[in-house]
Amino acid sequence: MTRKILVTSALPYANGPIHLGHLVEYIQTDIWARFQRLRGNECYYVCADDAHGTPIMLKAREQGTTPEELIERMGAAHQRDFAGFGIAFDNYYTTHSEENRHFCELIYERLRDAGHIERRTITQAYDEREGMFLPDRYIKGTCPSCGAPDQHGDNCEACGASYSPDELRDPVSVISGERPVERESEHYFFRLQDFEGMLRDWAASGALQEEMANKLQEWFDEGLRAWDISRDAPYFGFEIPDAPGKYFYVWLDAPIGYMASFKDLCEREGIDFERFWAADSGAELHHFIGKDIVYFHALFWPAMLHGAGFRRPTTVNAHGFLTVDGQKMSKSRGTFIMAETYLRHLNPEYLRYYFAAKLGANVHDLDLNLEDFSQRVNSDLVGKLVNIASRCAGFITKRFDGRLATTLDAPELYRKFTQAGEHIADLYERREFSRMVREVMALADEANQYIDEQKPWVIAKAGDDEPRLQAICTQGINLFRVLAIYLKPVLPRMASEAEAFLALREQRWTDAREPLLGHTINRFKPLMTRVEPQRIQAMIDESRESLAPTGSQDRTTGELEGHPIAEEIDIDTFSAVDLRVAEIIAADQVEGADKLLRLTLDLGGERRTVFAGIKAAYHPEDLVGRLTVMVANLKPRKMRFGTSEGMVLAAGPGGEALWLLSPDSGARPGMRVK
Ligand code: MSP
Ligand code: ZN
Repeated sequence: MTRKILVTSALPYANGPIHLGHLVEYIQTDIWARFQRLRGNECYYVCADDAHGTPIMLKAREQGTTPEELIERMGAAHQRDFAGFGIAFDNYYTTHSEENRHFCELIYERLRDAGHIERRTITQAYDEREGMFLPDRYIKGTCPSCGAPDQHGDNCEACGASYSPDELRDPVSVISGERPVERESEHYFFRLQDFEGMLRDWAASGALQEEMANKLQEWFDEGLRAWDISRDAPYFGFEIPDAPGKYFYVWLDAPIGYMASFKDLCEREGIDFERFWAADSGAELHHFIGKDIVYFHALFWPAMLHGAGFRRPTTVNAHGFLTVDGQKMSKSRGTFIMAETYLRHLNPEYLRYYFAAKLGANVHDLDLNLEDFSQRVNSDLVGKLVNIASRCAGFITKRFDGRLATTLDAPELYRKFTQAGEHIADLYERREFSRMVREVMALADEANQYIDEQKPWVIAKAGDDEPRLQAICTQGINLFRVLAIYLKPVLPRMASEAEAFLALREQRWTDAREPLLGHTINRFKPLMTRVEPQRIQAMIDESRESLAPTGSQDRTTGELEGHPIAEEIDIDTFSAVDLRVAEIIAADQVEGADKLLRLTLDLGGERRTVFAGIKAAYHPEDLVGRLTVMVANLKPRKMRFGTSEGMVLAAGPGGEALWLLSPDSGARPGMRVK
């Protein structure tokens, strides 16, 4: 019986490009989905961009664009990257869709009508200048525990302490730089605690990996609490139907995006949506996610589904995080590698294979060791797998006009390969990819050993037993074909090139059972080449470069230095900015400010006080006497330490990496800069 299977990967945020860390998940899911299809199951793999939330709203604003334009552009970039890695989604959508709005409202209303939504007034940090509530990550300040400056609202990177934002000393809004105030607002909560019994049963049903089931147990022991699902305007998301000015929190609408993406596919292809989502659905639903988002997928999501009368997931599969050369991916080391950067240098199937070789059904982190990566690919794929075909194909082409023999030389060995199929399939099914790869490579070793022993090249040279030569090479080609089918979910491109070489239609899993005999194949072309070390180096250099202060281009998003070129303006708009040469006549520390220096600037007669966030980059005494460029007609801004009457110009991301602009010698204070 063919199974009906719906598979998802987590929806990537629309505010950043896809990197190799993300790809662990999309490659893992894609391999599993391809395996299911290869086995003849009805399997759909859907995903979407996660388009809502504060970061996207702010990023769009910062880029001088609309959230709609930003998510459109990012969605296209994401899809290009995924296609480059052979990720075969049946549908890729966006959470900013009418289908998603529909299901969000439906689920919310059903939960509300069943009494699972409650309202409560909470106090939250509010940025008066921006007119918005501040999520924790948009508040910075001094760590209450160790005194480290510039720490985020929820935990300290210096000492690891976690705290609530109101405990921060000298908190400032990351958006406006001002001190937030406390303000009340009514929020909507989803009563997760109503579902504890159901969740316990579900967790015991085998839906989760052991590590995750244990984690859930801990959460049950701590007690489940209602979950805040609303956010106040301004917010980029869906407004709550019966609560104007309140929006669904992005994490409410994101998983519903799985349904919405599938719905879109169903509409297009005439698939029965209900069969997959009804409470009594006999279809399977499998989610693949990273270990960082387990809480959302193993508690909130099944509870929301169940509470709204839908089915629960069959499984939720978490994977670990990617490190590169044993360390967290790092921009300065050049190991924060974007999907697109990789694709410019290396074959995507190298990475698919390498991840497969490292992934198990567990939540362990996995390391991309670049040395090991080359070795693995070169020795397994080029040295073992493709080698089987390349050692035999030439003789078939040259001596037999491309025709395979009508019998195998070693049918027993062939049978051994086909009999291994069910075990290999079982490992795929259980997501034990690294064990699966090991099994396949052990067979590849046997195939090569067989060829070593039969020495077709010796028979060919002697020229006295053509039928045997043909049978041996036919054997080798057949063993290769079986392995190419087994690895097809991992190496789809190589497998399809192998199909072309073997003059075969698209192969299914069961095709491996019968050998190819008396069949004419095409001339062999190398199906995989060795990893070139200089390409790896180039990829690393480029990844490091894209952070360099000179602003090389990140082509993924068309961004310079993480910022795209802003929208075009006309000359009048530019002329409206009055830029002047200014001399720094005094630079002083500001009591209680981590980042600011108070600059006194001379504009050729006129004096200005400007607070500039350059403390980490400059010693005050080095600045005195120096010329710089300032915006002279900026509306004065009241800050906690005084009023800032303009702005000086500097380049760089901030902190120590900041460079004040200065004119060439000859410029005088007060000169207009145009
Ligand atoms: N938008 C949310 C998911 C919503 S699902 C309803 C999100 N997005 S994400 O872009 O940050 O991450 C997408 C997926 O990639 C997550 O499952 C995350 O765990 C995974 N990974 C992101 N960085 C990763 C690594 N460095 N290593 C492995 N997986 C990583 O979370
Ligand atoms: Zn600290």
